[in-house]
Amino acid sequence: MRTVEWNEERVCLIDQRVLPAEFRVLRLETPEEVARAIRDMAVRGAPAIGAAAAFGLALAARRSRAADRAGLWRDLEEAAAILRAARPTAVNLAWALERVLRRCAAESDPDAIRGVALAEAQAIADEDVEVNRRLGEFGAALIPDGATILHHCNTGALATVDYGTALGVIRTAHEQGKRVHVLVDETRPLLQGARLTAWELQQLGIPFTLIADNAAGHFLRTGQVNLVLVGADRVAANGDVANKIGTYKLAVAAKENGVPFYPCVPTSTIDLSTPTGDDIPIEERPPEEVTDLVFRGMPIAPSGVRVANPAFDVTPHRYVTGIITEKGIAYPPFGVSLRRIVETP
Ligand code: MRU
Repeated sequence: MRTVEWNEERVCLIDQRVLPAEFRVLRLETPEEVARAIRDMAVRGAPAIGAAAAFGLALAARRSRAADRAGLWRDLEEAAAILRAARPTAVNLAWALERVLRRCAAESDPDAIRGVALAEAQAIADEDVEVNRRLGEFGAALIPDGATILHHCNTGALATVDYGTALGVIRTAHEQGKRVHVLVDETRPLLQGARLTAWELQQLGIPFTLIADNAAGHFLRTGQVNLVLVGADRVAANGDVANKIGTYKLAVAAKENGVPFYPCVPTSTIDLSTPTGDDIPIEERPPEEVTDLVFRGMPIAPSGVRVANPAFDVTPHRYVTGIITEKGIAYPPFGVSLRRIVETP
């Protein structure tokens, strides 16, 4: 199944909290349940949470008992606010909600609104898969045969509706018959690399080696990496990139060692209304995500310690070689190239 799909008036999600131990599907019936699934990271990854939120809004439209347009619109706006607040950094969430609302605003009849809300959410989901495949083609052209690629977090089918962004690029290169090898950052604290990327690569039969996050600099310095591919949660107008915490360190170490660093994003992740990375809100997540791990049967930290848990960091554009999208690759100066790419039909 897809990571996120609509089935019999429910939003169905692969529960990513329990992978790889268990494959569990959640069937959600209210926008509040969808918002909780996004906040608790049952569904995660910028494009996947955008699609989930869009379907959540369709749920709101279809479950609303309002008889007139004004009442339905109030219900929609209330649900959109709840969904929008679920996670702040990935712009795809607000982008998808705005897209559904804009489509609904064009209709006057409540039943027509209920119909187009679902149709637009479904279009967002279907387009995501298409977009990832096109992005994969552009990106794969940069991958030489025999390449070793360093990858952070999870950007595969699970982080999108299907196929993936950075992992989609790797997957395309693999499907083209290129020999590729992936160094998979484990990605503390929630281990999206170890749990999800390793699981996906295993299923796809793509060779990989799991490494502790701390090992990435060693592999970059010793010439064992050809390029770094990551996803992003928001790209600012100047090319600064917000992505999973730890990405910034990778980008700095990559540049220091002459290794190209490419974020791979659908254009829905580019936010021209956010001027720089400093304007991107960085999500702070619960301290338990850092401390509540058990190692050899023991907790990994004394109880009651103070914890900081920013979920994302910003990589300034000077460390970015290029930004791979479904409409081509943007190169510096990003202020010009990103606008051109976003405005290309
Ligand atoms: O906190 P997460 O797991 O939602 O973070 C995900 C990432 O940082 C991904 O790299 C990003 O969303 C791009 S996914 C195609």
